[in-house]
Amino acid sequence: MTSNEPVTGDEPIALAAALASFDALWSPRIVTRVNDYDVRVAKVEGEHLWHAHDDTDEFFLVLDGELSIALREPAGERTVRLPKGSVFTVPRGVEHRPYAPGGASILLLEPTGTSTVGDRHDPVPAHVDATTGHALEL
Ligand code: NI
Repeated sequence: MTSNEPVTGDEPIALAAALASFDALWSPRIVTRVNDYDVRVAKVEGEHLWHAHDDTDEFFLVLDGELSIALREPAGERTVRLPKGSVFTVPRGVEHRPYAPGGASILLLEPTGTSTVGDRHDPVPAHVDATTGHALEL
């Protein structure tokens, strides 16, 4: 394994250590893989952007802080609030905009190669990293 490849589960990963290893916001690190899915962790604060993943659901677990996700559903727009310890899955194709005014640490589960800004999205602001996830460097 080279240093550029993600950790794939050959050793346990302490999520606290993983989160302490980087500061970048909206810039997920891949902590392990499950079949063809990435398990990613991210630090977030402020607003992400409206986007949609056409071919995959996106799973969120809030590890610390609180995350809100605005959703544009057929019935209209709504926001779900996810306090620490909450899980939520955004269905494929649904436009969503995560935000966390007070900051949060989150865990994401999605197919390897999934872009953080989806397949359709608003212009990407400078504070958001458009990525398929970065290797963890502990
Ligand atoms: Ni998304």
